[in-house]
Parts: sequence; structure tokens; C-alpha cells
Amino acid sequence: MKTCKVLVTGGCGYIGSHTAIDLLKQGFEVVSIDSLERSQAFVAGRVEEISGKPFHQYSFDCRDEAAVRKVFEQHPDISGVIHFAAYKSVGESVEHPLRYFDNNLNSLITVLRVAESFHVQHFVFSSSCSVYGNAASLPVTESTPLAEPESPYGRTKLMSEQIIHDYSLHSRMRFTVLRYFNPAGAHDSGRLGEIPFGKPDNLVPVITETAIGKRPALTVYGDDYPTRDGSCLRDYIHVMDIASAHTKALQYLLENKQKEKVEIFNLGSGEGITVLEMIHAFEKVSATELNYLLGDKRPGDVIAIYADNSKARSLLGWTPVRTTEDIMRSAWAWENRMREEKIK
Ligand SMILES: NC(=O)c1ccc[n+]([C@@H]2O[C@H](COP(=O)([O-])OP(=O)(O)OC[C@H]3O[C@@H](n4cnc5c(N)ncnc54)[C@H](O)[C@@H]3O)[C@@H](O)[C@H]2O)c1
Repeated sequence: MKTCKVLVTGGCGYIGSHTAIDLLKQGFEVVSIDSLERSQAFVAGRVEEISGKPFHQYSFDCRDEAAVRKVFEQHPDISGVIHFAAYKSVGESVEHPLRYFDNNLNSLITVLRVAESFHVQHFVFSSSCSVYGNAASLPVTESTPLAEPESPYGRTKLMSEQIIHDYSLHSRMRFTVLRYFNPAGAHDSGRLGEIPFGKPDNLVPVITETAIGKRPALTVYGDDYPTRDGSCLRDYIHVMDIASAHTKALQYLLENKQKEKVEIFNLGSGEGITVLEMIHAFEKVSATELNYLLGDKRPGDVIAIYADNSKARSLLGWTPVRTTEDIMRSAWAWENRMREEKIK
């Protein structure tokens, strides 16, 4: 198996930290740049403890080109980049679109510019299933037509993919674009997981925060959609399965198996599950009853979406192995751990 030194931007964030652990365990060396604006400094130490390997974290903003350049000067053997650093809140992006365009696009452009000057040839980018919008047919494949984004956040992902496409035409770099569905759950050790920045957007932390009493009740937005039980349907994928897909994508690039300049992969479990089914799965594994209310639909919510993940399975050799129960069990263990350790 081929390994290398890899720069992970956003390496102290939710998906970045879990990916760093997987990479380190598979023998990669990992350097991280994370401003810590939306994550916490202790995460770097936790990555080292869990993996048993050094994790070089630099705390500054990826838009600071001179600082990014210095990291490459200190680590001239970096040969791959996984770019996670971005803001991800749909609601915040509607209120502050320029904040999102500035951070999500300029961090990508800066990292690309520096990586190119240091002759990096392998680049993995975090995209999102939000680029598909309300798809006409399910499951969505990588060639499902893309939709008009529902938010400035979604637009930054679409624009980033377009930037990567145009840039690749005149670059020696090869790009793997990973479109995540709904990453959820926590590390199997119970010592790392998602630390929501402000009010979480995603369902699973809202469920665990409600169960632990951080919020009084959970609202299910819409109960008469044309789905099995009337609530929205999504594809939840365990964060450690998402993490292992990054390691496999990087190996695929390093082994020169990727023929196209840009290859796109859906990362989902391949199964749709409704919001109410997720709530019941949580109630089962935690043996708690969740206080939830049925509320009105939210404008802009996609009714149903789940992935056809066969391309990642066949080309990357990736198999998601964790279940919905694993997601709920690990997320609940992490929520309890955050309370014990007073992590906010
Ligand atoms: N979590 C999801 O549901 C989801 C779904 C689809 C796509 N994504 C994408 O995956 C990536 C990682 O998401 P996450 O859930 O780990 O988010 P996160 O907020 O937990 O992690 C992002 C990290 O990047 C850092 N960061 C942000 N802007 C930065 C900058 N300019 N310079 C340096 N550091 C910066 C933050 O401090 C944070 O630690 C993002 O690009 C996100 O848009 C996430």
C-alpha cells in the first residue's frame, strides 16, 4: 500500500479529525492547518492519543497564503492535500453569504495556488450531496443532473467543483471530489465526535442534545411528505466510513489508478432513512424516549435523497461497514462524554 505525507486542511474539525486518525492508522503522515475558528485545540491531542502517532497542527487561516507557504516549506515532502476547511451552516450562509463565498472559495484557491507551486499532484475535495437538490430520480448517481443550489453554502460547493474542473484542465494535479451525504456518529473509542459550533444544523446532534437536555424538544419539519412515514428521507453515513473513503481515495490517486483529471464519488450508505426512523433508532439504542414535535415544513428542504454509492465501492474498493445503530450508539456515547468532560 502506498502512503505519503498529506496536508489536511480543517484537520481539527469533525470529518477532518476522524479522517486524520484513519490516515495515521494506515501509515500516512498528517499535517493539519485549522484556524480553530470552528473547532477546538484539544482535538489535535485527541487525534494523537487515539492514533498513537504525531499530528502536526498549525493554527491559522488557509486564506493566509504566506503562512500556508511556510507549512509547505517546512514539509516539502507533502504530496497530497485533503481540503476540508470551509464553513458549513446552511442557515448562516443565507444570513451571511459573503462570509461563505470569501472563506469557502478563497481558502480553496489559496491552498490550490500554494500546492501547485510545491508540485503537489493529488488533491481530495469535500463536496456535498446538496449539489443535487431535489433530484428527479433516486438513488442519485454521480451523473445525476445538478440543481440550482438552495443556499449560498450549497453554491460554494458547486462553485468549488467548477473551479476545480476549470483549473484541472491546465494543471498536472489530479482531483477526487467526494460528495458526502449525511455524515453522522462519532469515533468508536467514544473519545472524539462532532462538537457543534453554535446550534447544530444536522439531525443526529440535535437528537442527542435533546436527549441530554441541552434543548427542550426536537421539531420534525413536515410529516406529510410523500415518504414512508411523511418525514424527510436522507442517507446517513457513519463518519468513520466517510474517513476511510478519504484514505482510499488518496491511495487511489497515489497509485495512479485515477485516469480522469477529476473523478467524483458519492459517499453515502446507499440507503434512505426518514427523520422519524432515525429518532426511533436512537430511542432503541439509548433506551430513552425523545421529546419531539411534528412541525411545519421548512422552505428549501429536499424531500428525499440517497446515494448510489456503487462507483466508490467498485473503483475505490470502499465498503461502508457501520449501521444506523452504530451511528446512534457512538453519537450518544460522545454526547455523554462531552457532558462528563464539560466540552462545549
Ligand atoms: N458535516 C457535514 O454534514 C458535511 C456534509 C457535506 C459536506 N461537508 C463538508 O465537509 C468539510 C468538513 O466538514 P465538517 O463537518 O468537518 O466541518 P467542521 O466545521 O467540523 O470542520 C471544518 C474545519 O475547518 C476549519 N476552517 C474553516 N475555515 C477555515 C479556514 N479558512 N482556514 C483554516 N481552517 C478553517 C474550522 O475551524 C473547522 O475545524 C466542509 O468542507 C464541509 O462543507 C460536511
